[in-house]
Amino acid sequence: MGVMNDPLTNDLFPQALLPVTLQGPADLEGFRRAARALLAQHMLPEQVSWHSSDAPVQDLFASGIAGAVEATSAIHKAAFNDAPPVSVPPEFVTLCETAILHRDPNRFGLLYRILWRLVHEPGLRHDPLDADMVKAQQMAQAVRRDQHKMKAFVRFRTVQDETFRSHPEGGPLHVAWFEPEHHIVEAIAPFFARRFTQMRWAVLTPERSIDWNGAQLSFGPGASKSDAPPADAGEALWLTYYENIFNPARLKMKMMQKEMPRKYWHNLPEAALITPLAASAHARSARMVDEVAAGPKRRLPDIKVLPVTMAADEDVPVRSLAQLREATHHCRACPIGACATQSVCGEGPLQAKLMFVGEQPGDQEDLQGRPFVGPAGQLLDRAFDALGIERGQVFVSNAVKHFKYELRGQRRIHKTPTQREAAACQHWLDDEIAMVQPGLLVALGATAARALLGRAVPVMANRGQMFERDDGRKVLVTLHPSALLRMPADEREAAYAAWLADLSVLSPARV
Ligand code: URA
Repeated sequence: MGVMNDPLTNDLFPQALLPVTLQGPADLEGFRRAARALLAQHMLPEQVSWHSSDAPVQDLFASGIAGAVEATSAIHKAAFNDAPPVSVPPEFVTLCETAILHRDPNRFGLLYRILWRLVHEPGLRHDPLDADMVKAQQMAQAVRRDQHKMKAFVRFRTVQDETFRSHPEGGPLHVAWFEPEHHIVEAIAPFFARRFTQMRWAVLTPERSIDWNGAQLSFGPGASKSDAPPADAGEALWLTYYENIFNPARLKMKMMQKEMPRKYWHNLPEAALITPLAASAHARSARMVDEVAAGPKRRLPDIKVLPVTMAADEDVPVRSLAQLREATHHCRACPIGACATQSVCGEGPLQAKLMFVGEQPGDQEDLQGRPFVGPAGQLLDRAFDALGIERGQVFVSNAVKHFKYELRGQRRIHKTPTQREAAACQHWLDDEIAMVQPGLLVALGATAARALLGRAVPVMANRGQMFERDDGRKVLVTLHPSALLRMPADEREAAYAAWLADLSVLSPARV
C-alpha cells in the first residue's frame, strides 16, 4: 500500500512531506532502509523530507506539524524494516557511502532523488553530466579530500595518563585534536587503528571523539580544543626537524598552500614556522647560490688499497672494537671500501642488551666515522627520545661498513649495496654481535633484516614483527629511518608515528 493512499496519513497531514529522521549524520544503514521502503511505497523524492541529528527538523516544527515526525515514522517503521532490496549499480553504492558523510543537510534528499531516478530513468546511469550525479560526485570528492587531510594533518601529543603511570610498559597515550569539515570521524577511525595499532591514542574533534586502547576502537561525544594536551618535547623536536628540512630554494608557496590549505594551519604546530621561513627563503637561496661549492672533505685522502689476499681473515674473529675498526678500514673484499673516506663500525657499550642495525653509513657518517649521525640518525635519535631509550646505552651499527655512493656533480648520492657487497661485510657484523652479545636486535630496513636473519624478509609485510635467529637472539624488523625521510612531507609524520609504534615494544626495561 502506498503512503499517499494511506487514509491515516492523508487524514492527518493531507499535504505534509513525509519526514524521515536518521539516527546520526552518517547513518548509512538507516538511509538505506528508509530509501528502500520509500521506493517500495512509490514515494516521490519531493514528498520526503530528510533529517538527522545534525540537522534538526526546525522547518517542520515551525509549520506546526511536529507530530508528523513521530506519527509517520511509526506508520512506516515496519515497512522500513521489510522493504525489498533495490538493484542499483555498485558505483552508486560507493558514491552513497562517501557522499552521505558530507555536511550538506540536503545530501540525503539528493541521494534519494538519484536512487529514485536510477530506478525510473534507465538512461541516468550513462549520463556523466547529469546535475544530480555531478553534485553527488562533488560531495564525495570533498569528503575524500577531508579524509585525506585528516590522515595527513593529525598531530599526536604524548600524555602520561593514569593508565601509563600504573602500566608504563603499555606506553603513553597519544592525543590529537582535529577539525574535520564533514562527518568523517567514524569512517576514518579504522585507518588510524591500522596505522597506529600498537599505540594507545585518541583523536578529539568537535563532533565525535575516537579512542583506541591498543585493541579496540570506541567513539564518544565531541570535545573542544582545550581538552587536547599542550605541546610536548616531541613537538619541539619535530619543529627543529621541520626547520632543518625546509629547503628555501624549493619553496613554492602556492603549491604548498594547495597541499596544506591555510584552514588547517591553526592546528598544525609546524605552520607557525612557515611564514618566517618563507620570508627569509629568498635571501637564503640567494646566499646558497653565491656560496662556493664545497666537495666532501676526505679525512683520509690516500687510502692504501690492499690486495684482496691481504684482506682480514674472516675465520679469525676480531676481539675489540678498535681492532674491528682498523680491520674494516683496510677491507677490500668488495669494491665499496676503495671509494669511502673511512669505514664506519658500530658504536655503543659492549654490554648493551639492544643493538640497532642499519644498512650502511651515509654521507655524514662517512665523513665523521660514526654511525647514524646524519638525517636518518637524527630521526633515530628522535625515536629513542620518544621511547625513553638513551642512545648511549644501545649499540648502533650497520650491515655494511663503508659508504656506497655515486657522484652527481659535487653530491654523493647513496646507492644501495648489492647482496654480494653486503655478504662480503657479513662477518664484520657477526663479529660485532659476538662482542656485544645483545639479547635483542632491531633490523632497520631490508638490508639489515637479511644480514641479521640470513634470508630476505619483506619489510612492509613484516614490520613490527619479532623473529628469532638460529642463535636464539630476537630480531625486530622495521623500516629504515631514511624510508620515512623519502616520503612526501604530508605523510611523513603519520609514518613516523607508525614507525614508533613498531618500535614501542622496546621499553626502556629491555635496554
Ligand atoms: N643509514 C644507515 O643505514 N646507517 C647510517 O649509519 C646512516 C644512514
